[in-house]
Amino acid sequence: ALPQRVRIYEVGPRDGLQNEASLVPVEVKAEFVRRLLDAGLTTVEATSFVHPRWVPQLADAAELMGRLADDLGEASRDLPVLVPNERGLDRALELGLRHVAIFGSATETFARRNLNRGLESQLEMFAPTVARARAAGLDVRAYVSMCFGDPWEGPVPVAQVVATGRRLLDLGAGQLSLGDTIGVGTAAHVTALVEAFADAGIGPDRLALHFHDTYGQALANAAAGLRAGVTTFDASAGGLGGCPYAASATGNLATEDLVWLLTGLGVEHGVDLDALVGTSTWMAERLGRPSPSAVVRALAQS
Ligand code: HMG
Ligand code: MG
Repeated sequence: ALPQRVRIYEVGPRDGLQNEASLVPVEVKAEFVRRLLDAGLTTVEATSFVHPRWVPQLADAAELMGRLADDLGEASRDLPVLVPNERGLDRALELGLRHVAIFGSATETFARRNLNRGLESQLEMFAPTVARARAAGLDVRAYVSMCFGDPWEGPVPVAQVVATGRRLLDLGAGQLSLGDTIGVGTAAHVTALVEAFADAGIGPDRLALHFHDTYGQALANAAAGLRAGVTTFDASAGGLGGCPYAASATGNLATEDLVWLLTGLGVEHGVDLDALVGTSTWMAERLGRPSPSAVVRALAQS
């Protein structure tokens, strides 16, 4: 049986914009976040406290969170942000934020490219970050990138992903988000991965799935994850996105496409699709190109 309700973890303002070549003004980002919340998305990842040289688009993270605090008050502190290390955590703590996400890699090559550290050394960076976040009462999510395939290493063994995920949970992360960073995974692979985690004692309630749509498989993969019992799905409004440090990564699963699927299946999601399409259409105008989401295109015309 399918779950009755799904939590959509919106990553548009972070994963969606981080790869955008031209700088998006901070007031546009703030309005994007507000509109996503207004459309009924309850979890909106707002930005990253990474090194500004690594992701120039998100160099305004503190300014954005300040604006959102002015607009939304207390509620802004519940918007999750990425922090790779203790320096990032300090920046989030200064602003009183309550939800942070670390981001590890299942492969050595991507760990080096994205974090400037190998598989073991990324964990040494995360350990004190998670420990201090937990001690301060924060909720910690852990992403695992390259869970299906890696542009430099090829297919990634399921056991390698489970091993990395296990280590991140052992550090104290509450939830793992399994990323198909370059969008090469297919449905049977998703089922096998979720089952492998269950066999290792990590049930689907501890997992989220994070699909990029490079090969057009993201929605089919989400359906497979849903059938395997996962109830948290990452998605990006309008299908924006890509990772600056992963060759061939394109946009995330579009939130609108996911919402359309869930509605059809009778699974509750809480999102107002018309408001969301309006937001993605507005954002597409700001970015100067149409949304790649099929659902946005269909509904924006009707
Ligand atoms: P590094 O150069 O090894 O850092 O980068 P370091 O620890 O050696 O420090 C060097 C300098 O950076 C120091 O300054 C630090 O203070 C500063 P200096 O003393 O030279 O003046 N520094 C920072 N400044 C601001 N904020 C920070 C910070 N940390 C250090 N947090 C580092 C290591 C991790 C910082 C760097 O590699 C980095 O920022 N990487 C981020 C890459 C990134 O954001 N990638 C995209 C997100 S991941 C993704 O998109 C995948 C995902 O969507 C899931 C999926 O699809 O698979 C999540
Ligand atoms: Mg991603």
